[in-house]
Amino acid sequence: MQDEKKKVLLSIRDEKQYFPVKKSSFREKQKYVKANDGISLDIYEGETLGLVGESGCGKSTFGRTILQLYPQTDGEILYEQDGEMVSLKDQPPEKMRELRRQLQLIFQDPYSSLNPRMTAGQIIGEGLTAHGVYKKGDPALREYVLDVMKKCGLDSYMFSRYPHQFSGGQRQRIGIARSLALKPRFVVCDEAVSALDVSIQSQILNLLSDLKEQEHLTYLFITHDLSVVKYISDRIGVMYLGNLVELAPTEELFERTLHPYTRALLSAIPTTEADADKRERILLEGDIPSPVNPPSGCKFHTRCYQCREKCKQEVPVFEDKGKGHWVACHYPMEE
Ligand SMILES: Nc1ncnc2c1ncn2[C@@H]1O[C@H](COP(=O)(O)OP(=O)(O)OP(=O)(O)O)[C@@H](O)[C@H]1O
Ligand SMILES: [Mg+2]
Repeated sequence: MQDEKKKVLLSIRDEKQYFPVKKSSFREKQKYVKANDGISLDIYEGETLGLVGESGCGKSTFGRTILQLYPQTDGEILYEQDGEMVSLKDQPPEKMRELRRQLQLIFQDPYSSLNPRMTAGQIIGEGLTAHGVYKKGDPALREYVLDVMKKCGLDSYMFSRYPHQFSGGQRQRIGIARSLALKPRFVVCDEAVSALDVSIQSQILNLLSDLKEQEHLTYLFITHDLSVVKYISDRIGVMYLGNLVELAPTEELFERTLHPYTRALLSAIPTTEADADKRERILLEGDIPSPVNPPSGCKFHTRCYQCREKCKQEVPVFEDKGKGHWVACHYPMEE
């Protein structure tokens, strides 16, 4: 894809999401979990953007904040609609309903996100009736739901079955069908395959990529499993403690890793033996610091094996080093 041809679908500027921490006494100063602490990036139409990082670094919060499931603490989230960039913040309810249809979430856990008292057909059709696309009981709704089910690899006899009658992989297909039935433009897949067996994972990943082509979707694909995003993403963003530390086209990220944290993450992926000789396993020491009181300067400095004095004091700027390769590090690693 040429740069000038890329169309920006979402433009996120300095997005912050701070959650208040419960105070232990009245006098105590209010503290916040800085789950997202100033994230800026563009998401291009038609791409799959992978988002990785250790548990608790703020990936789900980022996905949910884009979708306006939480009001953001600060920053702008702009969304392209009819050639204009509209701010998702402070939209009137009617407009927000329409936008919500276009911006969907596929959940992490197919076991808990499906209502056990509704059939697969009802679950998949629910959003369509809620958004007034079809009326309840309309035969055309049934036809449409059956069509979506087929696209998602679910047989028509499954229409009247309940979630407990499905396997984990099938349940995830129901979750996908439910989101896609609404014909969204942008879908956040939050750990969409993490709960599944490896063989089922690849089936679901194939389904997601096929659907993306057919339906012209754009994905934000969140996972803690780098081997999964490598397979599916056009670009990958790496998060640490509420911030993006590196962002690059997938191949570029693997070939020319600039951030010491990304290096450590990549070194932990199991690979073929030939590869393993070349790469040294980098083990990070220490625990992830608290997002309530993150370290000064570069937040990664307490665990960085390249840390120098400047890193403890100055916050590194997230900047483009060429070829769309962004990094926030005072001493990026180049070979
Ligand atoms: N609704 C909430 N209220 C308060 N704190 C929250 C809320 N949601 C998330 N957090 C906190 O924000 C931080 C980021 O959480 P988040 O779920 O976004 O991480 P994650 O990267 O998705 O982790 P995982 O890989 O485990 O899913 C964590 O410290 C978490 O405890
Ligand atoms: Mg999460």
